[in-house]
Amino acid sequence: MEPDEVAAAFDELQAAGKVRHFGVSNCNPMQIELLKKAVKQPLVANQLQFAVTHTGMIDGGIHVNMTDDRSVDHDGSILEYSQLHDMTIQAWSPFQYGFFEGVFIDNPKFPKLNAKLQELADKYHTNSSAIAAAWLIRVPGTQVIAGTTNAKRIANIAEGGDITLSRQEWYDVYFAAGNDLP
Ligand SMILES: NC(=O)c1ccc[n+]([C@@H]2O[C@H](COP(=O)([O-])OP(=O)(O)OC[C@H]3O[C@@H](n4cnc5c(N)ncnc54)[C@H](OP(=O)(O)O)[C@@H]3O)[C@@H](O)[C@H]2O)c1
Repeated sequence: MEPDEVAAAFDELQAAGKVRHFGVSNCNPMQIELLKKAVKQPLVANQLQFAVTHTGMIDGGIHVNMTDDRSVDHDGSILEYSQLHDMTIQAWSPFQYGFFEGVFIDNPKFPKLNAKLQELADKYHTNSSAIAAAWLIRVPGTQVIAGTTNAKRIANIAEGGDITLSRQEWYDVYFAAGNDLP
């Protein structure tokens, strides 16, 4: 990345009226700071892989100062940095596990997770995808980027926007996905 070159591109795009708000994708805090040295537009969002089955930015914060695998800070505390600088985290692959291995919703590889999602879906009179989306946006400053173009699925996922999981429910879903506390 060459910040001066990016800054020139941003200026050109903004002057042409083609882009109103600028952000980054898969950047850690120091990369963002480096970019900020050159660009003058506020950086309002960072697209990052984030799903209940991909929780590195959460795990690192829960396992601070431990010596287990989950204590490794893979991203320079990007969750806290984003909240500190009012940068929205746009969660990509919000319903996938692994690096595009598949969807976890209704997948028999994730029986505990799907049982918990369904239990909460029943409680909130909604569906599992909505609960998975509600789980993500319960983290302050997070948006969901759904990849589906299926209208029914989009409507199902959007129901999650009206649900605020309790802190206990949020942890229950986190644990059901195989995550733990130190
Ligand atoms: N910045 C980056 O590096 C980066 C990287 C990857 C992706 N992205 C962006 O993030 C967006 C979302 O990523 P994604 O497409 O991997 O995410 P996703 O929303 O987790 O997955 C979408 C895929 O899952 C399928 N799916 C099956 N069951 C589903 C269910 N119950 N609920 C929702 N989807 C279900 C959809 O199939 P159907 O289409 O048949 O419904 C679709 O193919 C992409 O469109 C892309 O714009 C950004």
